[in-house]
Amino acid sequence: MKTRTCATAVFAAIAAIAAGCAGMNDQETSQKALEVMKASFNERGQAKLDRLNQDEAQKLCSKPPSQELAKDIAAGIEKANLASIRYPADGRLMGDWRQGERIAQSGIGKQFSDDPKIPAGANCYACHQLSKAEISYGTIGPSLYNYGKLRGTSDAIQRYTYGKVYNSQAFTACSNMPRFGHNGILTEQQMKDVTALLLDPGSPVNQ
Ligand code: HEC
Repeated sequence: MKTRTCATAVFAAIAAIAAGCAGMNDQETSQKALEVMKASFNERGQAKLDRLNQDEAQKLCSKPPSQELAKDIAAGIEKANLASIRYPADGRLMGDWRQGERIAQSGIGKQFSDDPKIPAGANCYACHQLSKAEISYGTIGPSLYNYGKLRGTSDAIQRYTYGKVYNSQAFTACSNMPRFGHNGILTEQQMKDVTALLLDPGSPVNQ
């Protein structure tokens, strides 16, 4: 009985929203959806409601799956995101792979319960295989095992790798990979360290 009452209430709410949306254009519907989302969350600690605001790329990438992303729009997203990458002023893109391994293993950071003064981790293993030693990893992203061994450490590869970590959408529009530099998740030194993890011949990625 309780379940049925609840289901009826949910259905009524959906119907009300659908009725409310009739006659609204795309932009108005998105604005309404954002208002509903903002009303459903509370700010806590460093997790503020402005996280729900989408930037241009996120808006374009949030179209329904039925609407395929046009090639020129995808190219535009990549161009704009590429322009946002800030390479280190000292020109050095590879740091310490040992630190990089710690950062890749750590999922700490950015949650309301995390201390914002403690540097965030990158949780690369949540989506990628990186080394043979770590047997627990996610598969949303491709395996990066032997990444440096296969590609070498030329300037072009270093720039691509650092840039990919900085802003994944510079190379793949609508990528599921977090934009670590663009969104201020990792510091410049941390991005150098994970770049070294992928490329340094001494790192477990390349053993
Ligand atoms: C939430 C999942 C997720 C996390 C976390 C993540 N990635 Fe990714 N990554 C992906 C996906 C999905 C792709 C494939 C699509 C693309 O290229 O953007 C990818 C692609 C890549 C590529 C390009 C591979 C190639 O063949 O050129 C690199 C390099 C990479 N990730 C490195 C990293 C590093 C280093 C970290 C941690 C700092 C990381 N990723 C964290 C999901 C993730």
